[in-house]
Amino acid sequence: MTPTLDAVVHGATEVVVGPSEDGRGAETVADAGVAVVDGRVAAVGPTDEIRRAYPPENAREAIDARGRTVVPGFVDAHTHACFAGDRADEFEAKLRGTTYQELLAGGGGILRTVRAVRETSVERLTENLLAHLDVMLAHGTTTVEVKSGYGLDTETELRMLEAMAAADRRHAVDVVPTFMGAHAVPEDVDADDYVDAVVSDQLPAVADQGVARFCDVFCDEGAFTPEQSRRVLEAGLDHGLTPKVHAEELAHTGGARLAAEVGAASADHLLNATDDDVRALVDRGVVPVVLPGTAFSLGADYADARGMLDAGAPVALATDFNPNCFSRAMPFAVTLACVGMRLTPAEALVAATANAAAATGLDAGHGTLEAGAPADLAVVDAPSHVHLAYDFDVNRVRTVVKDGEVVHRA
Ligand code: NIG
Ligand code: FE
Repeated sequence: MTPTLDAVVHGATEVVVGPSEDGRGAETVADAGVAVVDGRVAAVGPTDEIRRAYPPENAREAIDARGRTVVPGFVDAHTHACFAGDRADEFEAKLRGTTYQELLAGGGGILRTVRAVRETSVERLTENLLAHLDVMLAHGTTTVEVKSGYGLDTETELRMLEAMAAADRRHAVDVVPTFMGAHAVPEDVDADDYVDAVVSDQLPAVADQGVARFCDVFCDEGAFTPEQSRRVLEAGLDHGLTPKVHAEELAHTGGARLAAEVGAASADHLLNATDDDVRALVDRGVVPVVLPGTAFSLGADYADARGMLDAGAPVALATDFNPNCFSRAMPFAVTLACVGMRLTPAEALVAATANAAAATGLDAGHGTLEAGAPADLAVVDAPSHVHLAYDFDVNRVRTVVKDGEVVHRA
């Protein structure tokens, strides 16, 4: 079969190819184009070379990117995007000084969303998630990790995972599903008894249906201890689910060290992580995922992503979209990572693409536009990748390509 020239992007002022060789920034090509053959990147190079080797008139799609920058599609490596209802009133309560922990301890926060999700059908959950995926795609996201954890019982956890699978089938954005039964301790239930239920009822059912790739735990003050978290993650491993950990967000309780010990794919949040924690993560190849939108919406200090990068960690960036952090736009996370965490725009972009792909367990090449990578890309109405971070009040994503197909045009 002759290969299909799916698309040629030409005339871009800049194409961001992926991480630079020294791992400190991004490799970019000026006045460049991208050729896409059979859903994969065939070549990135100067526009005249690309046009000669891959004439746009032979392509199914020719995308004129003059004045624009082409970036790999964003990988949003940490979200809770499958839910019902919202918590706008809690946003107001937090502005008046109530803390996230106080809301949760009083049956609000996550537990409030649990009550809403338990009353919501799989069809409604799917529709809600599809609507959020539309917004994410319009902002350049082509793959998103989504966690369960608003069910806290086997039936509802499975319903959430079913909604994710349905949304994945129906939407251009790829959904990577994570089981997070240990997201909160249900009201009036003993934490150890609940961990027993996660390990002996929820996990086997989830594994039996083959509907999750990762198993995540909220290891923190007011949630699960490192010992309880370890039980869940080791049981998950027994069922073939790779661990992830919500670690050191509200307090320092040992979640990062646990992530290193169990060989997690990622340790996420890390607002209170120590230098030793970061070293342990780097030594074990655990990707630190930072979520500046969460700190922003809680009015908290940001995680020390600058220090993590300086310690050699492949920091990843995600939105943490959930009813407590209502943000779906990866470009805004990039801006927050720059302004709040002192990453350069190039570091933030690599964190939002290639490093995020590693945190999400995607094959090498994902999150880049290197030859052979899946052709997932966004064309941004910005003259360089720096403008993507600098110019943050409106969405500048104009065209999104997923696996070589144009799936969004603005
Ligand atoms: O990553 N910290 C725990 N879990 C989520 C919040 C979920 C919620 O508040 O609904 C997070 O921020
Ligand atoms: Fe989270």
